[in-house]
Formats: sequence, C-alpha cells, structure tokens
Amino acid sequence: MAKSKTVYSCTECGFQTSRWLGQCPECKNWNTFVEETVVTEKKNSRSRTNKLHSSSENLAVGLDDVQVSREHRTKTGIEEFDRILGGGIFQDSLILIGGEPGIGKSTLILQIADRLSKKGKKVLYISGEESPGQLKDRSNRLGIKSSEIFLLSEIEMKKIESAITTIDPSFIIIDSIQTIYFEELESIPGSVSQIRETTARLMYIAKNLGKTIFIIGHITKGGIIAGPRILEHMVDTVLYFEGDRDNYFRLLRSIKNRFGTTNEIGIFEMTGNGLEEVKDISGVLISDSENSLPGVALSSAFEGSRALVMEIQSLVSPTSFGMPRRLSTGIDFNRFTLMIAIIEKKLHLPLQTMDVFINITGGIKVIEPAVDLAVLTAIVSAFKDQAFPEPTIVLGEVGLNGEIRPVSRIEDRVKAAHRQGYNNFIVPLRNKKSLGNLKGENLKINYVKYVSHIFQHLK
Ligand SMILES: Nc1ncnc2c1ncn2[C@@H]1O[C@H](COP(=O)(O)OP(=O)(O)OP(=O)(O)O)[C@@H](O)[C@H]1O
Ligand SMILES: [Mg+2]
Repeated sequence: MAKSKTVYSCTECGFQTSRWLGQCPECKNWNTFVEETVVTEKKNSRSRTNKLHSSSENLAVGLDDVQVSREHRTKTGIEEFDRILGGGIFQDSLILIGGEPGIGKSTLILQIADRLSKKGKKVLYISGEESPGQLKDRSNRLGIKSSEIFLLSEIEMKKIESAITTIDPSFIIIDSIQTIYFEELESIPGSVSQIRETTARLMYIAKNLGKTIFIIGHITKGGIIAGPRILEHMVDTVLYFEGDRDNYFRLLRSIKNRFGTTNEIGIFEMTGNGLEEVKDISGVLISDSENSLPGVALSSAFEGSRALVMEIQSLVSPTSFGMPRRLSTGIDFNRFTLMIAIIEKKLHLPLQTMDVFINITGGIKVIEPAVDLAVLTAIVSAFKDQAFPEPTIVLGEVGLNGEIRPVSRIEDRVKAAHRQGYNNFIVPLRNKKSLGNLKGENLKINYVKYVSHIFQHLK
C-alpha cells in the first residue's frame, strides 16, 4: 500500500525534513521550506534506483577504452547559440534554458529544433504548456515546416519515456520542467521533489540512451529558476534568457557549462519571424555613434569573449528635495556612489546638491571596473554640460585617490572598438606598454594618469 506523508523541502538545496524549519540546516538559507505531500511507495522507487545501478555497473569502462564518435558537437547554425555552448551542442548533454515568462524560450527552442531537423536529426518536442495546435501555430508564424520534428503534449514522465522509446529522437525538448511529473510521487508538478526526480530521470535518459535534452525552466520573481537549486547542479549547462521584456533584444547568457566557457552571451532580437541573431551589437547599444553629446561616455566591456562598445549616459540636475537622489541602471550602485565621492573630493565639483542618474543604454549590466572612468566622465560631462569633440571610448579603473589603474585585455578592447569605427580613445597611462605599438588608421590614443586629466578632453 502506498503511504502518503507530508515533508518540507528546501527550495534551494532540496533538503527534506518532517517539520517546518526557518533555516535550512544543509545550505543555511532562511525561509526556503515548502510543504509537500509525498507518497512513499517503497517497491516502485527501489525498482527505479535498481535499474539505474545495474546498468551503470555493467557500463564501467576503462578510460582508454571509451569510444567517442568523431562528431561530438552538433552546430545549429545559429552562431550566437553555438558560441555560448562552446561551439555547438555537446552530445548526450542536458541543457537547461531559464527565463522569465514570455521572454521567448519556446520560440528559441523551436527555432533550434528547426535547425536540427534540417540537419536530419529527429527532434521530439514535449510540451506541458501548449497543445500541438498551438505549437503548430507558432511554427507557422516562424515559417518552420519539418517532418523530423515530433510534437507531444504530455506531462506524465512515464508516458514521456515511452514516447522517447517509440520515436527514438536524437534531441528532446521538455517545455517546461515545472509541468512534468511522476505519478507515484504525489506532490504537485513543479514541486521540489518532482523537479528533482524528473530531472534525475532525464539525466539518466540523456547519459544512458544517448539523447541530448533541452529543459526549459521558469524563473521566479527573484531571478532564480523556480525549483531547487540542485536542478542547476544536476544539468550540464545552464543558459539564462535575460533582457527587459519590453526591450526588443534578448541576451542569452551561459551560467554554467561543463563543455565550454561560461559568461558568454548571445544577443538576439525578437521580431515577428522569431528571434534573430544580432551580430552588430554596437548598433543596438549606441544611440548616436556620429556625434558626441554632454553626459555621454562610451566604454568597452567584456561580455564573455567579446568586447562590446557601450554607452553610459548621465543626467545631473539640481535637487528639488532635501536629499539628493542617486539612481543607477546597469552599473553597480556602490561603484557609482564611489565615483560620485571621487568627483566631489578630487575634482571639487559640488554634487552634494545635485541629483545624479546613470544608465547604460540597451538594458546591459556591467560589473567590470574597467568602465569606472567612463562612468565618472559621463557624470562630469553632464555636470559641466561639456562633451568630447568626437565620440571617444573611455577606459580605466579609478582608484580611491583618483589615480587611474590599468585595464585588462586593453588591446582587444581598443582593436574591437576601432574595427567598429571608433578612432578616439582615453586609456590609463599604465596601459601604454601594451598599446604603444598599436597602429591604425586615424587611431588617436590619449593616456591619462589622474581623474583630473579628463578635463583636458572635454570641450
Ligand atoms: N505575432 C507575433 N509577432 C511578434 N512577436 C510575437 C508574436 N507572438 C509572440 N511574439 C513574441 O513572443 C514572445 C513569447 O515567446 P514565447 O512563447 O517563446 O515565450 P516563453 O518564454 O516560452 O514564454 P512562457 O514562459 O510563457 O512559456 C512574446 O512576448 C512576444 O514578444
Ligand atoms: Mg513557452
């Protein structure tokens, strides 16, 4: 007989107890326990684990004896996507794609399914959220037609498994993991135990049956994938879809990758025909690359392996209330207030009575200190209502004494921006060694040592 009981599961690490706790004894997070009903059906669960064990025992092989087929990565042809995965989809991997509602997860995955099917790969798209009719409707809109894509509207794991056995696809898409459930676990789909068990099963299918599986996961308000954190530990790769939903472009970021580098981003634009790759990102991030305006400084920050030119805008206006306002978008607030303090102390500009706002256009977020000097320059330029004579890329980390520190990979940043048509650069003096021999048409590099040197360049 199946017995049901109530357990409390930690949404961060999956730890379970029989009573509610304020703090998780395992991962030490507070208020992470949720109540769940589970059915303990010993026989069933044992047979499931037994199967796992017996097959893995037989499969132990010597490292040198492992046979690897030559083509272990499949390229989708969507370059932005292939790049963040480290050069294509690694075979037999489990890839989690997370993102806020409506950001375009299903759209992207359907486009990927299309590319894979065009390469003759069989794809099984399992949706727990949409009917085949709705999926067909989307594929019509995206202009996708394929006899190699199979659609299945199903949420029960057992039935999904039998469909996988019957159809025998190379690629499987689960949209979304929060809707899939095991019947013998009585907790509701999306609960910690369900997500953990279904993911473990999918992992088993991926590694033992040789399937590549994409899992789509919803994101909670706090920005983490709904469900236990262990979901992220279990899968091979975690990709997050970012970007303001009202913004017209989306960033796909790699958070974890067992088969490639992390912190790569892919940039897409949402159009009526689906997500399109954005290859010339500068066009999206820069509002005016011809003219230079007061309150604007350009800089270059690394997003993964690419140096992107970005525009930092500042607005400085007299405070109407007692307390001056400080607002930063896209830049770490603490670094922003640090720049304001350095301006007040070292450049003697009275910002105490001024509201200061800073923004990186395009919804990009930058944490690199390499953009410090650009942030500072944008504020100074807004305050003095002065601009650079020509669009200028400003690079440099600012120290507490107003000294400008060198920036890593400076040559790559300058070269990338120069290729995009920027000729004027302000960089730290201490980077001169690595830039001294750099030649380029119309290339003008100015070196600065202290923050006060920035005044010479604003007109
Ligand atoms: N006819 C259309 N023309 C242009 N864009 C559309 C059209 N229909 C949908 N979209 C875009 O597609 C987005 C929804 O994409 P999609 O369904 O792939 O998101 P999702 O991340 O899978 O959402 P959910 O979490 O609800 O499953 C919408 O926000 C909208 O921007
Ligand atoms: Mg969807």
